[in-house]
Amino acid sequence: MGSRGCGDNGAMDEGERGRGAAGEHPLTGGNATAGVVRVGDTVRRPAGFWTPAVHALLGHLHAVGFHAAPRPLGFDAQGREVLSFAPGTVVWPDRFHLVRPRHRVVRLGRLVRDLHDALAEFRPPPGACWQELMPADGAEIVVRNDLAPWNLVASEDGAWALIDWDTAAWGTRLWDLAYAAHGFVPLSADAHWQEPEAEAGARLRVLADAYGLDEEGRRRLVPLLSLRCRAMGDFLARRAQAGVEPWLGLWRSGHGAIWRADADYAEQREPQWLAALLD
Ligand SMILES: Nc1ncnc2c1ncn2[C@@H]1O[C@H](COP(=O)(O)OP(=O)(O)O)[C@@H](O)[C@H]1O
Ligand SMILES: [Mg+2]
Repeated sequence: MGSRGCGDNGAMDEGERGRGAAGEHPLTGGNATAGVVRVGDTVRRPAGFWTPAVHALLGHLHAVGFHAAPRPLGFDAQGREVLSFAPGTVVWPDRFHLVRPRHRVVRLGRLVRDLHDALAEFRPPPGACWQELMPADGAEIVVRNDLAPWNLVASEDGAWALIDWDTAAWGTRLWDLAYAAHGFVPLSADAHWQEPEAEAGARLRVLADAYGLDEEGRRRLVPLLSLRCRAMGDFLARRAQAGVEPWLGLWRSGHGAIWRADADYAEQREPQWLAALLD
């Protein structure tokens, strides 16, 4: 189930990075994977020990009718993974207004529910290896683990695609949903991103309603809103201490502190979130 025997979790393969060759257009917007390029209607990304399992997952999603994800197209001559290009722009940070209206939060909640229902039917191939960055709160299904505005591409014609599946691994629906709530509500300590508390609570409720979360799920989600952020801060601290990139760079540029401040923000308001979800 885990990635024991699969490789060095979190270490990227420096040898396979794209070099900006003719016809290759660098794609920016991520902060963990160097060398992501567009070639025609495809994207090339450095592959890792987890990529075959990720491609099996993406193939499954399309086979069961979930199309808001890139199609897996194998590997190129440089050993990079090949994916279909999703037209548009990632919504964070400059196009967050595309997900801010409440009806877009409804759309997101339904999308995450459809994704989880599709993943619940996924049977990973024997020996599948996942890049399990940190332990989740359980192992119900393989989940996305990075459902965030920085991995949602929105196109001009309104199509949405969830990209960047490198960290898919065993987890729980609530673990994944708590992370999505952090990014999309958003639940942020940053004054620039923060919603007034009542609005944040209302948006959290809209997300949970659209997902179809039952009462027990709502009660269990509340503590995860902070724990999920805390897990990110602690993960970055551990990797930074061990000197592992790209996490060391993210830690140094303040990402660990941001996750921990967001964890505190969510934890201090748990009664408000619970009331918003249940009243
Ligand atoms: N399948 C795709 N379709 C369109 N753009 C993509 C796709 N995959 C990646 N990108 C672009 O490349 C950028 C970085 O890729 P991403 O896979 O998110 O890497 P990172 O691990 O650094 O977050 C994204 O912000 C997006 O602009
Ligand atoms: Mg990304």
